[in-house]
Amino acid sequence: MRVRDNRRGCCIFLKDGDSPRVMYKKRTIGLYLTRICIMRVNRKLCFVVAVLVPMSFFCFHMWTKSDKVVAVWNREAPEDLLDNSPLQPLEKYAGISLKWKSEVLELLPKSNCKCEAETTLDIPFRQELIGKPYAVNFTASMVPLGIDETHKRRELEYKKFLMRSYSPADKIIVAEANSPLQYPLQGVEVRPLKTILIPGLGLLDLKKKQNYEVSLSCTLGTLNVAAEVDSVTIKGAGEKQITLSSSLLDNLNRQLQLVSYSNTVFNPNTADTVQFQSDGHTATFTIKVRHPTIPKLYDMGPTKSKYNISSLVTIATKTFLRYDKLQDLIDSIRKFYPTITIIIADDSEKPQKIEGPFIEHYIMPFRKGWFAGRNLAVSQVSTKYVLWVDDDFIFCPQTKIEKLVDVLEKTSLDLVGGAVREVTGYYTTYRQIINVIPGDKEGDCLKTLQGYHHIIEGFPNCVVADGVVNFFLGRTDKILKVGFDPQLSVVAHLEFFIDGLGALHVGSCDDVVVDHASKIQLPWSKTKTDKEYSKFRYPKSSHAVTSQHKLFYFKNRLKCMTGN
Ligand SMILES: *[C@@H]1O[C@H](CO)[C@@H](O)[C@H](O)[C@H]1NC(C)=O
Ligand SMILES: *[C@@H]1O[C@H](CO)[C@@H](O)[C@H](O)[C@H]1NC(C)=O
Repeated sequence: MRVRDNRRGCCIFLKDGDSPRVMYKKRTIGLYLTRICIMRVNRKLCFVVAVLVPMSFFCFHMWTKSDKVVAVWNREAPEDLLDNSPLQPLEKYAGISLKWKSEVLELLPKSNCKCEAETTLDIPFRQELIGKPYAVNFTASMVPLGIDETHKRRELEYKKFLMRSYSPADKIIVAEANSPLQYPLQGVEVRPLKTILIPGLGLLDLKKKQNYEVSLSCTLGTLNVAAEVDSVTIKGAGEKQITLSSSLLDNLNRQLQLVSYSNTVFNPNTADTVQFQSDGHTATFTIKVRHPTIPKLYDMGPTKSKYNISSLVTIATKTFLRYDKLQDLIDSIRKFYPTITIIIADDSEKPQKIEGPFIEHYIMPFRKGWFAGRNLAVSQVSTKYVLWVDDDFIFCPQTKIEKLVDVLEKTSLDLVGGAVREVTGYYTTYRQIINVIPGDKEGDCLKTLQGYHHIIEGFPNCVVADGVVNFFLGRTDKILKVGFDPQLSVVAHLEFFIDGLGALHVGSCDDVVVDHASKIQLPWSKTKTDKEYSKFRYPKSSHAVTSQHKLFYFKNRLKCMTGN
């Protein structure tokens, strides 16, 4: 830090690499010093303050401003990932005869998915037992809303999404045959604007030569050497391309161990592609540019043999009109977990007071919606885990939250569902497998299947799936990251797991059970609240369906869906 003192004012020099905190300190000191020199240089304080203080601000602004311009959009667009060119051979191989294996060809990805309701075995009472296969066309739902315009807007957003989410490190790089070059294939990483030694560089002596020469080049940084090895000539140190040459191969190889890479373009979550060349051979590898992942840790308190559920888990629920059911839920929870925090999001028109220890009641605008309520409730959770329950569930002796906590503590799962026991005695786990099959310009196809991927080792009652029932325990931070789309106001559940596909690792255990108080009800036993509730919850209008289809069509870029 330097201070310039002259008649025009005082400036503090801020360095490029200063952290925001240091910059803030320097600015504060700077203001102070400005005042001191004002007093020394000019005694007409008021006038000088009026001129110099804004000037010093301007001065700092100029010094803290970097003149670098980085095109943060300018990431390489991905090529078609489904490269089927091996299936159409080069001219050189065209004459070679082969026999296609259709059972393998069928398994290869194709960009032409279709949604047709599966015609699986027709067992008696199939529909009643496991539901009916279905196929829904989202494009057809969009036609009344102006399909052409919507499609154009969607594809534009999709292109931007690809540009945002693509990393050059995802690109396939092929190593040419017979290269004398040794280089790192993957795993090289640098922090933005920081420097590393590139590991693993070397040159193999294929044929004895008078002089060996290698060069390296990159685009988002500069290359240098950490030391200069004897008898090695270095050209371009500190530039985008560096050339090293020597008549002694060992010296050159020693020099290659000391090549450094400095990232100079601040554009985290991308990658620099480095070209490594010698004597007509070229190798390409990537250096990932990214910040470290900042952990988000929760203190579980002193370790004990048993989990302290009250300090680990918060129960979240959303209610609408059904205060009698909610009270039954709260009473049942208190029987087993007297000090666990319960968060309630409520969008009833005339909210009633829900009071009691360890209860937080959040009132929302009338009919704000199902997912909006979930979002609000989960956003207020401060424990490591959140247990989602519907307001018409009832805790029973088999509602052992400890078991679900144990699964999440001992596996890499982010979310684990339980089972909901219906009034009929039937257990719902609603285990779903979700597939997104590549499509065409119209969109991709969503395929949901009842079932799971595999059983979890050490937990014989638990399996891994992609979607589970409305009763689940999840890592709070992961659930917040995926979020519940507040646009889904009425019927929605699977949508959360579709949004979370690839981000959430999901499991399901059928030995942790919660009772379902309602659902199957005889029409004459319905109370007034029940009737009013069903009016809002299961609307007859097609509006809710259309808006759900619109979200599938636009947000998830799907054209259709099938399921069983
Ligand atoms: C859906 O319907 C539209 C219009 O009715 C049609 O053009 C399109 O091919 C259908 N898409 C699928 C996947 O069946
Ligand atoms: C469990 O956690 C709660 C809340 O953090 C705390 O008040 C309670 O004392 C803990 N119980 C035990 C047995 O440690």
